[in-house]
Amino acid sequence: MTDSLPMVTFPDGRSVCALGQGTWHMGERNGDFAAEVDSLRAGIDLGLTLIDTAEMYGGAENVVGEAVKGRRDDVYIVSKVVPSNASSKGIVQACEGSLQRLGVERIDLYLLHWRGRHPLAETVEAFERLQEAGKIGAWGVSNFDVDDMEELREVRGGGAVATNQVLYNLARRGIEFDLLPWSESAGVPVMAYSPFDEGRLLSEPVLAEIAARHGATAAQVALSFLLRRTNVVAIPKSGSAVRLRENRKAIDLRLTSDDLALLDNAFPPPVSKQPLEMI
Ligand SMILES: NC(=O)c1ccc[n+]([C@@H]2O[C@H](COP(=O)([O-])OP(=O)(O)OC[C@H]3O[C@@H](n4cnc5c(N)ncnc54)[C@H](OP(=O)(O)O)[C@@H]3O)[C@@H](O)[C@H]2O)c1
Repeated sequence: MTDSLPMVTFPDGRSVCALGQGTWHMGERNGDFAAEVDSLRAGIDLGLTLIDTAEMYGGAENVVGEAVKGRRDDVYIVSKVVPSNASSKGIVQACEGSLQRLGVERIDLYLLHWRGRHPLAETVEAFERLQEAGKIGAWGVSNFDVDDMEELREVRGGGAVATNQVLYNLARRGIEFDLLPWSESAGVPVMAYSPFDEGRLLSEPVLAEIAARHGATAAQVALSFLLRRTNVVAIPKSGSAVRLRENRKAIDLRLTSDDLALLDNAFPPPVSKQPLEMI
């Protein structure tokens, strides 16, 4: 397994490994808590130090909090505020709640989970105040399409957006038509969520076929497809240390042009604008 990790740099200059860890559905069952903490720790040991969570994910922030105890400086924590809390006042309370569950003094990157009824200008101003107070490092958004990003960048302070976290995997390639090129030219990294399409992708025969050529697995092929891009951070979720190790090895896999042609055939890239998909 290679020691060198592909890195992505956010606009504030902070670099993170392009392969991170998701946490949705963690903390939902008490009996899984210890294994989930262990798997996040195993991931951190492997260099997968960006951990994505959200106030909406129930107990997931508590799992992350336990996993990062004693190693806060090794990790880059991303959390999200639900849109109904993204007002001047609501966001302060929501952020405090996340900080408490995480057991940390600062969230490295705090995202608006999706667009809601509060004006973007109000949310951006609230993010800035949290930054000034040292509660968050940077801020960003999630589930924003190109028109939302353009509107955001028109808002005072909106140009500081650090990332846009969106659904992106082989079966959901719509953003390749416009949002991905837009993000590349704007210098805003994209965080690809549900890189396995919540696991569904992994039973696609073409992934098994390509994996067999490389002595790899379907999960590694799905991740390698995303990791080819220099502006994308993929955040697969696994509650198993064994599967995390498997996912980490995707960094060593190089897909050939033949592999990519097979993938294009099975999952054609978009030829026109697709509305942004969300899970
Ligand atoms: N911003 C948003 O609106 C948004 C929406 C959805 C998700 N997210 C974030 O993105 C993260 C990832 O997305 P996701 O959790 O929806 O789905 P995902 O990462 O595409 O898939 C997770 C599923 O794949 C399984 N898995 C992981 N590694 C595997 C492997 N090597 N082989 C076989 N199965 C494997 C996991 O099972 P095990 O756990 O048993 O390994 C789990 O069932 C989330 O956890 C969350 O942090 C953000």
